[in-house]
Amino acid sequence: KTLVILISGRGSNMQALLEAQLPVDRIVVVSNNPDAEGLKTAAALGIQTATIDHRVFSNREAFDAALAEEIDHYQPELIALAGFMRILTRDFVLRYQGRLMNIHPSLLPAFPGLHTHQRALQEGVKIHGCTVHFVTSALDHGPIVIQAAIPILANDTCQTLAKRVLQQEHRIYSQAVCWFMHGRIRLCGNTVTVSEASI
Ligand code: GRF
Repeated sequence: KTLVILISGRGSNMQALLEAQLPVDRIVVVSNNPDAEGLKTAAALGIQTATIDHRVFSNREAFDAALAEEIDHYQPELIALAGFMRILTRDFVLRYQGRLMNIHPSLLPAFPGLHTHQRALQEGVKIHGCTVHFVTSALDHGPIVIQAAIPILANDTCQTLAKRVLQQEHRIYSQAVCWFMHGRIRLCGNTVTVSEASI
């Protein structure tokens, strides 16, 4: 089984997946950003990497077509977006329906998009967290696989909050990918089914 991880930057979620001893035969890391820190981390761990630089393409469709061509070389069971900062076209998302997951640093449907920790603090919510979801063409709105919640503390800053959420991201993303690879999680239409059968 093959897992493709798409990254754009630091790659700490990618690293958590690489260290999670997932039931896969091969992992390939693909970045749209040749300078992504995560590419170095992956290479240092002996993981195959590739870069499809989005700046070389004149539009989103052309970039996504090149990305899909690269991904299809590997025939992955699952494509995990891990801090991948490009919005994907509808065609791309449909092509990989049920095989495309994302980690988002909020309790969706609250705070889709960017600056989630800052917005959670501004809104004064008391519970925050992160969400693993299947990707659909609605940004940050796909069917939810797993969430983790944490309390917001009185003296939290964006940084302290981000740090505690990130620890949970690493935990639930590995869990979700592991379950998917064991065949326990499936997307049926717009619903995620989790089976106990193959534990
Ligand atoms: C994570 O918080 C992820 O949820 C968000 O971007 C951040 C990426 O961090 N989409 P990393 O590259 O995985 O360290």
